[in-house]
Amino acid sequence: MNSPDSFLQDLLARMSLPEKIGQLTQARIEDQSPEKIQAGLKAGRWGSRILAQTNWAGNLKNKSLNVEEMNAQQKVAVEESPAGIPLIFGRDVIYGHRTVYPIPHCQAASFHPDLVEKACTCVAREAAAEGIHWTFSPMLDLVRDPRWGRVIESYGEDPFLISEMGCASVRGFQGEDPSAPDRILACAKHFAGYGGSEGGRDYDSTDWSDDSLHNMILPPFRAAVEAGIASMMSGFNQLAGRSVSASPHLTRDWLKTQLDWDGFIVSDWGSVNDLIAHRQAETRSDAARLALEAGIDMDMVDALYEEGLAALVDSGELSEALIDEAVLRVLRAKQRAGLFERPYTEPTPDLQRAPEHIAIAVELACQSIVLLKNDGILPLAATHKKIAVLGPYAEARRQHLGSWCLDGRSEDVTPILDALRTQMPDVNFITANAAFTDEMIAAARSAELTLVCVGESHVRNGEAKSIGELALPPGQEAFISALGALGVPMVIIDCSGRYLPIPAAEQYALAILHAGSLGTEAGTAIAKVLSGEVNPSGKLPMTVPRFTGQIPIYYNRKSPGSALNRGLFKGYEDKRVTPLYPFGFGKSYTEFSLENIELSAEHLPPGESVTLRATLRNLGGRSGAQVVQLYIQDAVSIPTRPMRELKGFQRIELEAGASQTLTFELSEKQLGFYTSKGEWIVQPGEFRLALGFDSTAELTHTLHYKNTL
Ligand code: NOJ
Repeated sequence: MNSPDSFLQDLLARMSLPEKIGQLTQARIEDQSPEKIQAGLKAGRWGSRILAQTNWAGNLKNKSLNVEEMNAQQKVAVEESPAGIPLIFGRDVIYGHRTVYPIPHCQAASFHPDLVEKACTCVAREAAAEGIHWTFSPMLDLVRDPRWGRVIESYGEDPFLISEMGCASVRGFQGEDPSAPDRILACAKHFAGYGGSEGGRDYDSTDWSDDSLHNMILPPFRAAVEAGIASMMSGFNQLAGRSVSASPHLTRDWLKTQLDWDGFIVSDWGSVNDLIAHRQAETRSDAARLALEAGIDMDMVDALYEEGLAALVDSGELSEALIDEAVLRVLRAKQRAGLFERPYTEPTPDLQRAPEHIAIAVELACQSIVLLKNDGILPLAATHKKIAVLGPYAEARRQHLGSWCLDGRSEDVTPILDALRTQMPDVNFITANAAFTDEMIAAARSAELTLVCVGESHVRNGEAKSIGELALPPGQEAFISALGALGVPMVIIDCSGRYLPIPAAEQYALAILHAGSLGTEAGTAIAKVLSGEVNPSGKLPMTVPRFTGQIPIYYNRKSPGSALNRGLFKGYEDKRVTPLYPFGFGKSYTEFSLENIELSAEHLPPGESVTLRATLRNLGGRSGAQVVQLYIQDAVSIPTRPMRELKGFQRIELEAGASQTLTFELSEKQLGFYTSKGEWIVQPGEFRLALGFDSTAELTHTLHYKNTL
């Protein structure tokens, strides 16, 4: 870690112990009396204010974003507190501010990191204009259990995809220089392993093996460090017998020492206090000590540091040097955010929902849609005269904003029905009451086609919202079946934040479009895709199981024993064993082929690279984009390696009939992995390669690697 500059050192030298502890304390102060707030600010009691009411997703609507009030509080901190250190204001600006982008799970489906970076740049601009210095995003949790409500905040099940998307978001939020007035600090969370909450129950324990930890869970955090992330958040979970908010080997040893990362770690809301719930600490004071010793620099909201650290230093149980180290990290982040030079926010209201922000939101929403099934009914033919748009989300607005949306407004969302009427003015789009009534059936019967907008609402996913059955909310399957029984052609538009199996849709629908929670521009994007103005190109960031009992099922798993592998044993007596849709899958309105796949050499010498080359051709009659994915399989290895690992992807747009040659570089970087001790190794041997359009692509080529010349 670079040694802190003299400005920060001097500042630290002038601070009293309570002031130092103040810098390590993040508080939610809006419930306190104005007198208490003034007194606290003057005393330097808080280094950070979190603009939130509860720890739960969707916690605070608009209310506390009052730039004048925040500037006034800042003025007291800067001008009246002893060390004059500005506050850092943090808020969960997860995937949008006033302009709301798709939820991260849907963003991941775009396989388009550059666009995600652009979206986060716009989000940063809007958030910074309202006084936010620091967002608690991106979430880098690798997920395998869609029952967990927080999958909607994740980039899915693959560490490479998560890393690409996470880094794009860090670049978007922080830019080259996070002190610029239109940038904010990012926070990678939840360090580490929280996505493995057992049974998909939020806040439950996790138990990743060291192999999984180093090769699945930690790589996205390592990538975020390389991308210059300013902060990280430790999770709520315990992992293999220790709470991650007090695991020195993870935070102090791996993150701070081994990676030489100079950012700071904030605990999650109350996660230090949870050391008591986990039975790792007996008292609040013990919990504070264990967390600080582990390298958790700032305590979010539970006031444990404020309450306990001074006495621990006084009694000699805790070294003040550890506190100093944490304070310097927090001060360095404030310096990076430019807070010492520019502590106040100049309100710039006309930045909110600027046309360029909306344009990017439309583009990203379009690219986040995944076409799962299509018998050719989509795109909608211009010849249709009457189409029924039915279901609970035909005219919904709030639903599209997803569950971690604090500042987006329902009135800014264009509902699907309205957007379709604008997009295809010559079609008569009819609807009926959103409840499942006879009128709805009659509307469907009177139309040439029904577009059925179903889904899980934002109140049923996100934090603390897990489901036991991976299915649509009650009634919707029956509704689809009732409409299906009419025999009127049906298209399903699924507005669930996660990817759910919908058996009735599989049975009756001619096409299934997964829209998810696409943000303020949801309706516009869905209408563009349905009409064919935009050709869908999204790909699944997570394997879709056929039924709940199949969880966990993910593409990058280890090879099973031969009985299962060769089909001697079918997996289940009562169900099919294969996923409903594989990772990386998504259809288009056109057809693509990959031709002439060639490897530049069969042997890879150490330190060199080879290229895998292929020609992508658009065989169909309309332009479209395809995501070409590169997978490898380490043929034989101890420890064993996954059946497939995504090592690269390229999203290519092609006009009808056009073709393009693509190249993927392969070097030791793609072939190596981490041992269970976290050491990077590249083993000699054979590596099988697959290039294709989803994770089931055929392994067609073999590369031999020898680690000596
Ligand atoms: C708890 C959540 O786990 C975390 O993701 C969020 O950033 C914090 N609360 C702050 O609201």
